[in-house]
Amino acid sequence: MSVKLPTTTLGEHGPVVGSQGFGCMAMATGYYGETDEAAARATLDRALDLGVTLFDTADVYGGGANEEFIAPFVQANRDRIVIATKFGLVHRDGKTWIDNRPEYIRQSLEGSLRRLGVDTIDLYYMHRRTPDVPMADSVGTMADLVREGKIRYLGLSEVSAAELREAHAIHPITALQTEWSLFSREVEAEIVPAAAEHGIALVPYSPLGRGQLSGATQGVQLQASDVRQHMARFSEENRAANDALIAGISNLASRHDSTPAQVALAWLHHQAAVHSLTIVPIPGTRKPSRVEENVGGATLRLADEDFDALDQLADAVRGDRSRTI
Ligand SMILES: NC(=O)c1ccc[n+]([C@@H]2O[C@H](COP(=O)([O-])OP(=O)(O)OC[C@H]3O[C@@H](n4cnc5c(N)ncnc54)[C@H](OP(=O)(O)O)[C@@H]3O)[C@@H](O)[C@H]2O)c1
Repeated sequence: MSVKLPTTTLGEHGPVVGSQGFGCMAMATGYYGETDEAAARATLDRALDLGVTLFDTADVYGGGANEEFIAPFVQANRDRIVIATKFGLVHRDGKTWIDNRPEYIRQSLEGSLRRLGVDTIDLYYMHRRTPDVPMADSVGTMADLVREGKIRYLGLSEVSAAELREAHAIHPITALQTEWSLFSREVEAEIVPAAAEHGIALVPYSPLGRGQLSGATQGVQLQASDVRQHMARFSEENRAANDALIAGISNLASRHDSTPAQVALAWLHHQAAVHSLTIVPIPGTRKPSRVEENVGGATLRLADEDFDALDQLADAVRGDRSRTI
């Protein structure tokens, strides 16, 4: 029998959610290879059964296809889940840019509401920030949308500590989403302390290093369309070194009768105590058995010497993280 997730409050005044969320991005977008749609739908249901309630998507994922794919699940479980989506990152005609203009925010929100088939977005993120638009205008528009009842809570993604503070002074920010994992730790220097200071929850994305930390990509030829082929961590020159680190994580995991993915997630949950803030990681998978495994990582307890060993392994990671998707 699987253990249910504990719950937590997202940020000081945010919604109550399962202590681990769920990233939907790879479903029906092709980013991490093709999706078995039936298995992906079963994974969403299994996640909810296990107590996962925060589900994460974005308007840019698959050009809206990701929101459309999860829409039946969202509508069927509207009162049981917290749906998060994002605006601001635009991929079109082979180009990528950031748009934070008030009229664009309103237009994006209407698109997300329509594709998801809901009246309100629970947690609405600015996916990327551009200084071209003053924060008072972009976050000010998001605050107006809260007053209009179209969104409930505000989130930011990939902002600096200074931007987080500036935005929070305009309207309370419930959650900050940024990459954070054993392999991506730069957020710990300034951004995590700023979030902790203001009672803002951290929602680490790619908590499994886009699958690398689970060991599932070790020695595997990625599909031609898989975006990870173009990421430095997965380059031929860096992969061998990073795979050797995964071997160390696997050894540690087997001593705890667990898996590398569970150890990577347990390490992240432990950071909540280290940094005094709420952390709700959002690992993504399209396989029901893997969501069970990942939920197990939320309650796995490691010893101090394990964290020391993991910190040392993490320091040796090769290749920069990707910030484009
Ligand atoms: N704000 C942003 O800019 C941003 C950027 C990237 C991602 N995100 C969000 O964060 C979410 C999660 O990030 P992510 O999907 O990039 O990476 P991730 O959660 O670190 O890893 C996902 C990958 O790991 C595999 N996987 C998951 N659990 C596994 C397990 N137990 N054993 C083996 N393999 C496993 C998945 O494959 P299968 O699907 O085949 O199981 C998938 O390829 C996304 O879905 C998205 O919502 C946000």
